Amino acid sequence: MSVSVKDVAARAGVSVGTVSNVMNWPDKVSSATVERVQRAIDELGFVRNDAARQLRAGRSHAIGLVILDIGNPFFTDLARGAEDRASKAGLSIILGNSDERAERESSYLDLFEEQRMHGVLISPFGDITARLRRLRERGIPAVLVDRTSADASFSSVSVDDVAGGVLAVDHLIDSGRRRIAFVGGPSEIRQVSDRLEGARSAVAQHPEVTLEVIETRALSVIEGRAAGNGILARPPADRPDAVFAANDLIAMGVLQALNMQGALHVPRDIALIGYDDIDFASAAVVPLSSIRQPSAMIGATAVEILLEEAADPQLAPRQIVFQPELVVRESTGR
Ligand code: RIB
Repeated sequence: MSVSVKDVAARAGVSVGTVSNVMNWPDKVSSATVERVQRAIDELGFVRNDAARQLRAGRSHAIGLVILDIGNPFFTDLARGAEDRASKAGLSIILGNSDERAERESSYLDLFEEQRMHGVLISPFGDITARLRRLRERGIPAVLVDRTSADASFSSVSVDDVAGGVLAVDHLIDSGRRRIAFVGGPSEIRQVSDRLEGARSAVAQHPEVTLEVIETRALSVIEGRAAGNGILARPPADRPDAVFAANDLIAMGVLQALNMQGALHVPRDIALIGYDDIDFASAAVVPLSSIRQPSAMIGATAVEILLEEAADPQLAPRQIVFQPELVVRESTGR
């Protein structure tokens, strides 16, 4: 006859819930209790039946994570932080890449609903509040990563991107730049529009400074390179003397274009600052100044909140907002 969780609980002198916690969230249980329960599991030869447990619990042992762009190291760092925290709770991460496309984002949410994921983390492309409400009605909690919830109806873990935009442009102005170009897009991505809002508010404090927007179709190296070539194609007097790129991939593309043509020197002729501080930023041919986000911490914190909301659906949503950090390197004239 197979050993059940109840047998383990009786042998260890604890409740069934405690046995479950020891198996799923061991760091929430005292070490003495963990040892007692583990000893009972060993003595009875209890084997966890994942499929049956998942069916009984009506919930998978995996968390779905939908990111905007798997080619962006910011998101892989975020996923690493989420995975490290999830594995401590005995959970896995299933990664979906929306590629900044609403239809792909929707198909992953459908898949995670069908699979009755333990919960869903998502960096949304558009406003998906109604879609996440349907997930929650099915008992699947969701936490937004990398941006706040439009109406605070879901928990979120993000960085204050408006403050990040202010930091970037204040630094360019302090470095003596006066004709700044914001390069990034599409503008419907909230992270882009928030950074631009910060840039505008910084420039508003300096009448002598101008800000132009060069919108891109995606936050990619290719789009950054196209923007860089566009700047080079202008008469010298029409060119900006600084670029604030909406993220480091855009900045790398701009730098590549300027470097390949050799017509403009970074930072002497044009300063360049990115956003995210991915590993490649410091390794760029001209080490890139950037606005650092605690990407792994964002992922781990989001999992922490998701686990708490999965255990107690009545918990009120929380908006965790980290502050960005300015990292100065050669591309803005360290
Ligand atoms: O992909 C969108 C951008 O927003 C990423 O580069 C990262 O900065 C995220 O916050």
